[in-house]
Amino acid sequence: MESTRRRKKSWAEPFKIKVVEPLRITTRKYREQCMKEADYNTFLLKSEDVYLDLLTDSGTSAMSDNQWAGMMMGDESYAGSKNFYNLVDAIGRYYGYKYVVPTHQGRGAEHILSQIMIKPGDVVPGNMYFTTTRLHQQLAGGTFVDVIIDEAHDPTNKSPFKGNLDLAKLQYWIDKAGAAKIPYISFEGNVNMAGGQPVSMDNFRRVYGLCRQYGIKVMLDATRLVENCYFIKTREPGYRERSIAEILREVCSYSDGATMSAKKDSLVNIGGWLAVNDKELFEKARHMVVIYEGLHTYGGLAGRDMEAMARGIAESVQYDYIRSRVGQVEYLGNLLIKENIPIVRPVGGHAVFLDARSFLPHLPQDQFPAQALTAQLYEESGVRAMERGIVSAGRNPETGEHNRPKLELVRLTIPRRVYTQAHMDVTAETVCEVWQRRSSIKGLRMVYEPEYLRFFQARFEKIG
Ligand code: F0G
Repeated sequence: MESTRRRKKSWAEPFKIKVVEPLRITTRKYREQCMKEADYNTFLLKSEDVYLDLLTDSGTSAMSDNQWAGMMMGDESYAGSKNFYNLVDAIGRYYGYKYVVPTHQGRGAEHILSQIMIKPGDVVPGNMYFTTTRLHQQLAGGTFVDVIIDEAHDPTNKSPFKGNLDLAKLQYWIDKAGAAKIPYISFEGNVNMAGGQPVSMDNFRRVYGLCRQYGIKVMLDATRLVENCYFIKTREPGYRERSIAEILREVCSYSDGATMSAKKDSLVNIGGWLAVNDKELFEKARHMVVIYEGLHTYGGLAGRDMEAMARGIAESVQYDYIRSRVGQVEYLGNLLIKENIPIVRPVGGHAVFLDARSFLPHLPQDQFPAQALTAQLYEESGVRAMERGIVSAGRNPETGEHNRPKLELVRLTIPRRVYTQAHMDVTAETVCEVWQRRSSIKGLRMVYEPEYLRFFQARFEKIG
């Protein structure tokens, strides 16, 4: 339900702080040493050495008192926990799906979905890849093909719905591969790798319409779908008066199911799910979850985790909350725009993405400019960001070559309900300091490369 009071221009947080967690400020010399020991990969830093942790918005949210109270109501029975039923109810009410399989997090759901739906030789079109999603599709024998609109690859393009799927590209793959070879469309809301860019309701509707003609299923990645709904409400004609909850239900009505990393939108530290409307598919997923995650009524989670998730879902669609969440990200983005720092436009829903190609034009992509920039930000003031460029993109499994994404980005990801406006100011100051001395920044060389999802554990050294 939305509050009816007159709306102020400010997006001030609709909550106050009850518990605080101290932050540690360190010296530059210490941080340089830490970054060197972490081999210039911010995933390998110890969090106690980080001042502002903008590595990810995944599992880093602050839970509400209501969620913490729910944790005390955990029913830790092995089978049939009441929290599972509360979760199923919440997903049914807010997302509208019939059948739910809980998983420990999003990739657990992606694994099950890929294994039960993809056959070797299949093609899975989607609106830009996500690292774990694509890998599970590949491990199941499928090939992911990117059918996002071209605008998504241009950080300066200000279109309001840069997450949209290009129907002509989709038609091309349907004609080329044949509908029988396309088990489903992998359709992500508020596309992470494109910079947190939304899909319009019109696009959700059209993609579903096209897929129905061919009997192809549409599976959403609902990880940041609530944030997507906020953009539909504020940017798409006809939705201003609709509640976030109503918009969410409509979006999901144009799909056959979804995978979810509840660690984002749903304001919990762990959890995920796979939901479908098809009974047969559900039975397959239920068989699979017991092998890899746990019984079908807990899927790798404690009862208390499912309760926190059920309550978090209800909180996530509150308009005042989602407005302040996206408003805070926009606030940081606007500070950087004012300083002419190149960022992905429009500002995304969960993060501000620095355009490392424009930031460090003297570094070729083979010297990992975005990775180098994350190291500089950390050394400057202890702000931890994440690379979303050539390192994240990995290699083509057939040719073994680096995938070379057009977007070479650094993600300043904002955890939900965690940091204040002053923290955003400090972050902007940090980026400005590094911007001032950008021409002296050196590239990196990769000295250790894991086979899968290399960005998590790759090691680098400074060139020169
Ligand atoms: N889909 C999207 C769009 C994601 O952003 C993530 C995770 C997943 C699926 C996988 O979910 O982590 O719960 O297994 N994104 C995190 C991030 C890791 O930092 O962007 P998970």
